[in-house]
Amino acid sequence: MNKELMQKFSLGEQLCFDEISPGFPVIKVNNHYATATISLYGGQLLEYKPHDQSEPVIWLSRKAVFMQNKAIRGGIPLCWPWFGDYNSQSVDATLPAHGFARIVYWDIKSTQTLKEGGTEVILKMPCDDVCLQYKKVMNHFNCQLLLKITITDVLKLELISINHSQQEVPISNALHSYFNISNIRNVNIQGLEKTTFHDKLNGEKSSFDEAVLKFDRETDRVFVDTHSDIVLTDPDFGRKIIISKENSSSTVIWNPWQEKSTSMSDMSNDAWLQMVCIEPANVSKNQLLLAPGEMHSISLTITVNQIL
Ligand code: BG6
Repeated sequence: MNKELMQKFSLGEQLCFDEISPGFPVIKVNNHYATATISLYGGQLLEYKPHDQSEPVIWLSRKAVFMQNKAIRGGIPLCWPWFGDYNSQSVDATLPAHGFARIVYWDIKSTQTLKEGGTEVILKMPCDDVCLQYKKVMNHFNCQLLLKITITDVLKLELISINHSQQEVPISNALHSYFNISNIRNVNIQGLEKTTFHDKLNGEKSSFDEAVLKFDRETDRVFVDTHSDIVLTDPDFGRKIIISKENSSSTVIWNPWQEKSTSMSDMSNDAWLQMVCIEPANVSKNQLLLAPGEMHSISLTITVNQIL
């Protein structure tokens, strides 16, 4: 581990550095409230567990693969500046799904101990070098990307895009959060009632009128024009997880179910039972168009409440 990094950014016992796999440095936080692991590859929070929880809140695949150009399965990958496949007239099959922010190394901008023992970490994507690789599809693209992670009695992630170019820039983004659950069949989600979603499995648009969303099959839905908090209720883990979002107009819900999960080399065969993705996003018709000089900040706050 780079000694300079340690000297510059470690915060005593509260924040230190490690490697999760050779060549994959991580920041380890252990503060008054929680433990967390943040990977510099992908600027990706990988683990989060408040001290009063016996089970992690964020799910990280036991079979996650740590390899260049491959996204780490689990945690909170950042989808940016596009979501899903790159969408253009001249589709280039070599472009990575969900953009490139999750497959490049990020720099640390700052770390600090907050009042009452919380921790703040700010990461910065080295955009100049990275965007050059994608120049052919991203003419005039000159955007800065920052991630602010705050670990207090809640976990907050803020993804900040700043358009430094002279042109408008289209940006999609998602905080692709994998939640650790007791069993996909026994959890439910509230906060999406009376919305419209695009079902990625059959390409259809539907309205969602139920009070709760439950799971009994593969689910891959993009809910648009949604701004409310989402509540993930998990009676077997005795908790409700509140997912609050700001400046996010879409919410993506994903569980691959058994067949797809089994076909994925970085998920164990029963992994689909233990995870669900709830992703605050701006995608599809909610894609952003950043004016020259404009800044946009999407944020996610995760609060864990015991069920009494
Ligand atoms: C979800 C998408 O956000 O991410 C799914 O809606 C996709 O379609 C899933 O399968 C996982 O994507 P990836 O690229 O990490 O395997």
